[in-house]
Amino acid sequence: MALDCLTSTTKACKDFHACKWPGELSSGDTSLALYFDAINDNHLNAVKEIQRTCSQIITFSHFVPRQELCPEKRMLFYPKLPKIIGSDFLEFRIRSIHGIHGSACHLFGHTHFVWDAVIDGIRYVQAPLAYPRERKRRMNGGENWLPFCIYSDGKFSDRLTPCYWSDHYSANPRTPDNTELAPWVARFYNQT
Ligand SMILES: [Fe+2]
Repeated sequence: MALDCLTSTTKACKDFHACKWPGELSSGDTSLALYFDAINDNHLNAVKEIQRTCSQIITFSHFVPRQELCPEKRMLFYPKLPKIIGSDFLEFRIRSIHGIHGSACHLFGHTHFVWDAVIDGIRYVQAPLAYPRERKRRMNGGENWLPFCIYSDGKFSDRLTPCYWSDHYSANPRTPDNTELAPWVARFYNQT
């Protein structure tokens, strides 16, 4: 199936038809995101202990906690991607763990966009190794990338480089009112 900008998220994303959820859980609303977020409540005591004893905290999620960690729609071959990559509950959970901690770092995944940016006091990093075929076609390098070491000898690593998308957004504001397709997206849809 060719993916185009009109393809619904339920058709474009395998999760919707490859997964069956029990009971009241549905992939058509926020129930799944809430369900998985609530599993973290099983570890509240461990989190409290970490908050009490650690000066540096790293949290992890597969999914994306904030819209600002994904390129804007007009930059994407599939503009509906932001609808299916994360939840506000995830961001709220991360904030509740880091609180006002001085050294807060969150690692995330799922979208395979390289990212390293500080937003509202938390450093968000995605350092994807990607699928082999993705590594080969990357416009900005990536074929020889190794796993990124985020923390060693009591210190967080320096910024990940190159870091195409977060570099772009550190130099350019997000302009959600701009509906002009990015050149590579326009070329793609002109060909199809
Ligand atoms: Fe994923």
